[in-house]
Amino acid sequence: MRSIIYIAAILFLYKHTKALDNGVALTPPMGFMANMATFPIETLIRQQAQLLVSGGYLSAGYEYIIIDDCWLNMTRAPDGTLQPDNKRFPSGIPALADYVHSLGLKFGIYEDYGTETCAGYPGILGHLEQDANTFAQWGVDYLKLDGCNVDVAQMDTGYPEMGALLNKTNRQIGYSCSWPAYQEFSKITPNYTAIADSCNLWRNWADIDDSWESVYAIIQWFADNQDRLAPHHGPGHWNDADMLVIGNFGLSPAQSRAQMALWSILSVPLILSVDLHTISDWAKDIILNKNLIAINQDPLGAMGKRILKLSNSIQVWSKPLLNDRTAFVVLSPEPYGTPIHVSVSLENLGLTRYQDYDFFESFDSKYIGKYHYNQVFNFTVNPSGDVFAFYTSPPH
Ligand SMILES: *[C@@H]1O[C@H](CO)[C@@H](O)[C@H](O)[C@H]1NC(C)=O
Ligand SMILES: *[C@@H]1O[C@H](CO)[C@@H](O)[C@H](O)[C@H]1NC(C)=O
Ligand SMILES: *[C@@H]1O[C@H](CO)[C@@H](O)[C@H](O)[C@H]1NC(C)=O
Ligand SMILES: *[C@@H]1O[C@H](CO)[C@@H](O)[C@H](O)[C@H]1NC(C)=O
Repeated sequence: MRSIIYIAAILFLYKHTKALDNGVALTPPMGFMANMATFPIETLIRQQAQLLVSGGYLSAGYEYIIIDDCWLNMTRAPDGTLQPDNKRFPSGIPALADYVHSLGLKFGIYEDYGTETCAGYPGILGHLEQDANTFAQWGVDYLKLDGCNVDVAQMDTGYPEMGALLNKTNRQIGYSCSWPAYQEFSKITPNYTAIADSCNLWRNWADIDDSWESVYAIIQWFADNQDRLAPHHGPGHWNDADMLVIGNFGLSPAQSRAQMALWSILSVPLILSVDLHTISDWAKDIILNKNLIAINQDPLGAMGKRILKLSNSIQVWSKPLLNDRTAFVVLSPEPYGTPIHVSVSLENLGLTRYQDYDFFESFDSKYIGKYHYNQVFNFTVNPSGDVFAFYTSPPH
């Protein structure tokens, strides 16, 4: 017995000394990605940065503003340094980073491990150390490193090499790796242990687009692969399901609630992609929902899992929270046009302790009632991509 405990303790220590330990992203990163099609010049990015603060997003936790592909000049400076497009960024990147910092936000930037970015701008290959130092000098807090235009086989050494060079700059830089996404698409099984040793977060799969089909496909991919993803997920190292598309054009209010609830139960990064200048009130309310954000940011950092598939394609997800609470999301994906009544036993929800559980609705924290482990829980969930979200708490 004693030796089993001893071995368990060693394994525990091993896991925690191996994974990347740069003090960044102890909860899933939250922020805003500025794509260059919508925000092509620095003044528009500054405006979004101001809105992150004045609109209450920063105080809700959305602290990063990240500029996406297409910020670069097509050529490096004569000494090899990366330089921005001087029409889009006439003040330069350090000035933009300073401005972002002056608002209390953190500054993120996009690059690519290959010879060129996906849009054809200079990639970092051949310049890793110089570029790591440039980012640190510029005041970059977060690097999204894409994987276009490079041999996928090279990523297993290249991404860790860049991670080590970022570390050597002594600046704390959140490191977002696209490495596994390219491997998954090439049918190479990613070594998620090695990825968690080098990266704070990593895109696993497809780029999201502004549609329920895309959101639903990502949710299903995470569920179908949950047993190999979840063990590598936790404080400092996160699987990434890609951006929230809430507030754009493709999702209904119900589907937007679903994306927020599922991204929260998965504990994946919450990166906004909406124009904060034109966002609707309902979308803003969902994005800023304190209870859902608290579930996403729960300090345990567990990746929620799909635990049940019921009739009518209804799926139940659950995630353990701090203090013995459990969050659940019930997703009703099919377009039946009518609310669906669901009965599920507490035992099937994994709630098997003898004491009663208190149930609360997740979006508004409204008390639902007390249930015993041998009872069933009845509720209604709307169709076409809506969710019913609730959490349980043991009685005190
Ligand atoms: C790109 O950089 C070159 C000099 O290295 C400069 O002449 C040119 O104007 C720049 N173009 C843009 C769009 O920044
Ligand atoms: C560099 O790596 C070491 C070892 O993992 C870690 O303790 C340190 O915080 C890292 N520093 C930075 C700036 O990332
Ligand atoms: C995965 O990476 C870890 C850490 O670098 C290494 O110890 C392990 O051997 C690798 N596994 C495989 C199957 O390559
Ligand atoms: C829950 O629904 C089932 C039918 O599915 C019903 O038999 C049961 O009485 C209901 N329980 C409560 C507490 O409403």
